[in-house]
Amino acid sequence: MAEQTASSIVLDNRRYWEALAPERKGEPVESFKSGGSVLNEHERAAVGDVRGGRVLQLACSVGDEALTFAQMGAHVTAVDLAPSHLATGRAKAEALGLEVNFQEQDMMNLDQEITGFDLVFISWGGVCWAPDIHAWAQLVAQRLNPGGSLVISEHHPLWEVLSVADEDRLSVSGDYFNPGRDGYYDPLKAPEVTRKIGTPDIPHRSFVWNIGSVVGAVLAAGLTVRSLQEFPAAEMYPGLGERASSIPATYLLTAAR
Ligand SMILES: C[S@@+](CC[C@H](N)C(=O)[O-])C[C@H]1O[C@@H](n2cnc3c(N)ncnc32)[C@H](O)[C@@H]1O
Repeated sequence: MAEQTASSIVLDNRRYWEALAPERKGEPVESFKSGGSVLNEHERAAVGDVRGGRVLQLACSVGDEALTFAQMGAHVTAVDLAPSHLATGRAKAEALGLEVNFQEQDMMNLDQEITGFDLVFISWGGVCWAPDIHAWAQLVAQRLNPGGSLVISEHHPLWEVLSVADEDRLSVSGDYFNPGRDGYYDPLKAPEVTRKIGTPDIPHRSFVWNIGSVVGAVLAAGLTVRSLQEFPAAEMYPGLGERASSIPATYLLTAAR
């Protein structure tokens, strides 16, 4: 690939995510109406009581987590690159009578007024769209209030580079130490909606930030790492058999300013 600037990568990625929008709607409004939360138990414990606090969600897509934070009583700003995903989020917020400040923004280059948060949250295929993890962590640290928290809940980078070859066998399909990836080396790592609609013929570049680079970037930004948990999720290694529970599939990092 010819050398690409961070901003041209972001523009390509925006077109890619726009192409996925028609089929990516997230949870139905009814599930929120009946009290459903899209946060898992580890995320709920990590974010704590957000009532009355200011929450920023980065790469929010159709806003399901942002809506959950609003239902929990937080003042929520949620940003994403892709206007059609944000439109879905706004429609759900309206149907639920919830207030979420959805903003079309590049998380690498947020408007100055998007600042002063008690919690910055990013999850499930969010961090991989940051072309520079150090610049990303610096920006997050600047937008947190003193005492505020960062919570990252993500696919494990080891999962990103391992593919199931056979029952009880894995193959290394990616590179744990070289983050940039054009497309996906394993289609099972691509956004789930591509299994339904195929891969749009649009260049897209994501980044497998390994655990060391995420922790290093968060520390270099002056934040204090409070916890780092790794979890198995056997269903994320389909066909591997019972040993799928012996390797990490996801992680959750919390840090404080
Ligand atoms: C896998 S989805 C988000 C995951 C979200 N937590 C969820 O579960 O729906 C990835 C999102 O990142 C957004 N994105 C990609 N690059 C971005 C950037 N530079 N700034 C903001 N959002 C970005 C895409 O538009 C897409 O909506």
